[in-house]
Amino acid sequence: MPHVVIVGTQWGDEGKGKIVDVLSRHVGAVARFQGGNNAGHTLVVEGKKVVLHLLPSGVLRDDCLCVIGNGVVVDPAVLLEELDELGETGRVLGPERLRISAQAHVIMPYHLALDRLREAALGDGRIGTTCRGIGPCYEDKVARRGVRMSDLVRPEVLRERIARVLPEKNGAIAALGGEPLDLDAIVEALSPLGERLAPFVGDAAAELHRLHRRGRSILFEGAQGTFLDIDHGTYPYVTSSSTVAGGACAGSGVGPTLIDEVVGIAKAYTTRVGSGCFPTEDLGEPGERLRAQGAEFGATTGRPRRCGWFDAPLVRHAARLNGLTRLALTKLDVLSGLSEVPLCVAYEGYDRESFPAALDDVTPIYETMPGWEGDLSGCRSISELPANALRYVQRVEELVGIPVELVSVGPGRSDTILHGDLFTR
Ligand code: GDP
Ligand code: IMO
Ligand code: MG
Repeated sequence: MPHVVIVGTQWGDEGKGKIVDVLSRHVGAVARFQGGNNAGHTLVVEGKKVVLHLLPSGVLRDDCLCVIGNGVVVDPAVLLEELDELGETGRVLGPERLRISAQAHVIMPYHLALDRLREAALGDGRIGTTCRGIGPCYEDKVARRGVRMSDLVRPEVLRERIARVLPEKNGAIAALGGEPLDLDAIVEALSPLGERLAPFVGDAAAELHRLHRRGRSILFEGAQGTFLDIDHGTYPYVTSSSTVAGGACAGSGVGPTLIDEVVGIAKAYTTRVGSGCFPTEDLGEPGERLRAQGAEFGATTGRPRRCGWFDAPLVRHAARLNGLTRLALTKLDVLSGLSEVPLCVAYEGYDRESFPAALDDVTPIYETMPGWEGDLSGCRSISELPANALRYVQRVEELVGIPVELVSVGPGRSDTILHGDLFTR
């Protein structure tokens, strides 16, 4: 397999974790390149569920290196907890299997405090963040006052880095009505975490280049989705990183000429967590049915996900923004049992090539596809799908303009239909 970037084409939770796990069978490494533990990626293997927030979805493959790239923001306590939980299930991920970039930024206690306080202060105007400190951490990175993994593992440097910014942070915390934080307490809490993580910290990009030279392929695992991208998403209701495929290079330290394929993951319908526009949202009983059938509750915060229908103009725009070469369609099984399936084919006033600057006022135009019955989770080839389910997949493919080469029909690793030359080679 070549080097492949995997991205979400909607607002996250498209099933990226499952697909990365499926495709990681033959790769040398899986690398995260942006985001942090705002992500929740769910893998289900032999009936056992694993939810990952920071660790790449290659963890269940013994010969696969897991890389946390420079573009990721790392909460050290969460990462260690995730490693410990994995260890408890008999999967110990040692330094030979996990490399964390020394340049990755660290989510500090004041980032968590500021995320929560700012959201509370916004009231009804809140973004609906995961309150994991993601935005405040990226702010400090760009403002050149962040703490990096290379600082975390050197206690004397760590103290100096925090001391430099803490008065300003405490000022902001106090202005929002929060409790100021104590330098000694932060250093004391973080130093042992730095000590435990030190063996994993190093030159992550160099590891990727080494694997490339050896002819091993790399999967770049996106978090969030295209319309949560800081530039291209539904601003300001977005996350704080570049979620599009272009971010994979800057966030991992490989050049664009190394990337061979970009696979977009699209849910067969649409979901969104948090605030912001959502043209095809269904606020009625059918939307509730999607939530119940699809178990649409956040893997990170447990919040109910807003649900609606497949939005072809949205995913077609994602195809352009990411340079998609293939599409994976997930959760097709969730649509089984509907007599008709609405599908948004266009926005009023926009043609195939144009996309509105903002989605607040668009009017979706729907086509009604005939529904199908039955449990799809046993299907292992396209030809086993009910005729109308196949028709739906083909219509999505036609509207988005990218071949659907993977169809997911259940949460389990094996509930997957692979076809097309990328996935079956
Ligand atoms: P991610 O953030 O993109 O990795 O997606 P999440 O893991 O947050 O959410 C996707 C959810 O759908 C998880 O609970 C998966 O186990 C589940 N899932 C993934 N693919 C399928 C599928 O094809 N069918 C069904 N029913 N569930 C799926
Ligand atoms: P995965 O990788 C769905 C959303 C939040 C909020 C906005 C900003 O599992 O697909 P942040 O905490 O990032 O500042 O929140 O982005 N959000 C996600 N929604 N899936 C995710 O990740 C998300 N990560 C962030 O709900 O609306
Ligand atoms: Mg998720």
